[in-house]
Amino acid sequence: MRSVPRHVACVMDGNGRWARMRSLPRTAGHRAAETTVIETIEAARTSGVEWLSLYAFSTENWNRPGSEVDYLMRLVRRVVRKHAPLLLARGIRCRFLGAADPRIPRGLAQDFSDLTTLTAENQEMTLTVAFDHGGRQDIVEAARSLIRSGTPADEVTEQLFAAHLPFPDTPDVDLAIRTSGEQRISNFMLWQVAYAEWVFPDVLWPDFRGPDFRACLHTYRSRDRRFGGVPPQTIGDPS
Ligand code: IPE
Ligand code: IPE
Ligand code: MG
Repeated sequence: MRSVPRHVACVMDGNGRWARMRSLPRTAGHRAAETTVIETIEAARTSGVEWLSLYAFSTENWNRPGSEVDYLMRLVRRVVRKHAPLLLARGIRCRFLGAADPRIPRGLAQDFSDLTTLTAENQEMTLTVAFDHGGRQDIVEAARSLIRSGTPADEVTEQLFAAHLPFPDTPDVDLAIRTSGEQRISNFMLWQVAYAEWVFPDVLWPDFRGPDFRACLHTYRSRDRRFGGVPPQTIGDPS
């Protein structure tokens, strides 16, 4: 097994609780998350992670109060614009998974598209921002695409199905991190996390820093990934 996970995916959770602990509005927690996002990208890149995926907004997050949704849209737009030069300079290829809902402001969709184009040739690390993302939605999209392609049912394999998912070059997630102590998938990259190792640090996302990220990589190294097999040291056990 590689000692550094090739693909790390983060469910960035706990912004609201971070703010509540400080008697601040929830939006203050989202604002404080910006530093964590940049530190996490840097920590991943300098650790040799090749693929980093960040869950920024779920298809279910549209259920939040309109004022919070509006704030998130404005914040993400500001963050994308502000950090575009840094992402380009660091060699990070950026792309946005989801982002299909007509409620996404046109300017934000344009910024997503501009950053994607700007960084398209970068090769140091691929950053996928899951925004207006739902794992089930992606699977349904893949099914639609397969049906449209006219593939006979008997020819559908896991590999072919995966080729119809959005961003089919994305490798399986090796390590998934969900901050804030919550322990659920919340509809995140369902296909790709099938065999991920999960860690659930108690720290809230706005407090998560480079050393916390590296601690998650350390935990990953101590895991025994079996993929349904048996641990290597037991191969050859007397039967
Ligand atoms: C994660 O923090 C950010 C988004 C889902 C956009 P939350 O806003 O879910 O924070 P908690 O879970 O309420 O603390
Ligand atoms: C998942 O967090 C979505 C993101 C981090 C963007 P939520 O806080 O929305 O998930 P639930 O509601 O606790 O499952
Ligand atoms: Mg939450």
